[in-house]
Amino acid sequence: MKTQILKANNEQDILTAISMIQSGQIVAIPTETVYGLAADARNIDAVKKIFSIKNRPANHPLIVHIASLDNLSEWAKDIPSIAFQIGQHFWPGPITLLLKKHDSVNNIITGGLDTIAIRIPQNNTVLKILKTLNTAVAAPSANPHKRISPTTAEHVMSGLSGKIAAVLDAGPCQIGIESTIIDLTKDKISILRHGPITKEMIEAIINAPVATPSTHTESVAGNMKCHYQPYTKTSLMTLNEIKKYTYENQEKKIGIIHYSNLDLKLINIKAIKLSSIKTEYSKEIYNSLHELDTLNLQEILIETPPNQPLWNDILDRLLKASAKNN
Ligand code: TXA
Ligand code: MG
Repeated sequence: MKTQILKANNEQDILTAISMIQSGQIVAIPTETVYGLAADARNIDAVKKIFSIKNRPANHPLIVHIASLDNLSEWAKDIPSIAFQIGQHFWPGPITLLLKKHDSVNNIITGGLDTIAIRIPQNNTVLKILKTLNTAVAAPSANPHKRISPTTAEHVMSGLSGKIAAVLDAGPCQIGIESTIIDLTKDKISILRHGPITKEMIEAIINAPVATPSTHTESVAGNMKCHYQPYTKTSLMTLNEIKKYTYENQEKKIGIIHYSNLDLKLINIKAIKLSSIKTEYSKEIYNSLHELDTLNLQEILIETPPNQPLWNDILDRLLKASAKNN
């Protein structure tokens, strides 16, 4: 299959994307967080294709993306009022709500669970497509299973070209890191995956405590040890550890991602300096990992992010990107 590159600012291309999704094909779509791999959520054959394209295990459920808060009750049931409160405040935006699944939703989407993850993404073209389709799309991040999430159409193509009908190119994602996932199915509200919307931001809106368990068995979100991984061996280190390691391994071709000042004049080093402002850093981190991963380096070293709650999502992704399988 030849993957078409469609432009999100071209009316004809938008119509093409709509008809592709309508006919059960898979199209990578831009969102404010990362690019998603979209299938009509009511077309189960199309949804199944997502799992095979990504090589994703069947028990890893998908997020359903809706166009409006009015659509929430088509996909979830027994919705607590707090869900509407959060939705009204943060949607369209980078937060996903875990709710009880509506009886009409096929188990394939939810990986056999009786809960469903739902969000309204912030991208005008995508919202227009969802409204025209008059359905929702199931969309995981548009990368092969366990690999780095895509924040540009080029990243999508590098992982999935030839496997999907098209990618709708809207340029780089504004946020660059996946949505926060919050569980609203239990008495205790908890964050299952850290993201751009923090515990503090949610608590300020709902006036109730939000827990952030570091491990949880009740669902799959965030429970994989290795994820977001470059093909190149990757480690998380403090700035001093990076300096020491690179001096001691000068024969190695090493990539470094850092935000502090790093005064290294070694020839085999490819260093990328990111901003120490979290929102700027998050826009670039996956892009930097994708870039270093194409350079045939022996190792990638990433400076440990600041130890502050605002950076919890970045730390979570980098711990998984650098986790070793043994
Ligand atoms: O920002 C995002 O959330 C992006 C964009 C495309 O919307 N999507 C995304 O999807 O990150 P994905 O599939 O890469 O990650 C979704 C996570 C997975 O860890 C999955 O296990 C979890 O959400 N999830 C989905 N439905 C769930 C459910 N019913 N119970 C527990 N976890 C669920
Ligand atoms: Mg993903």
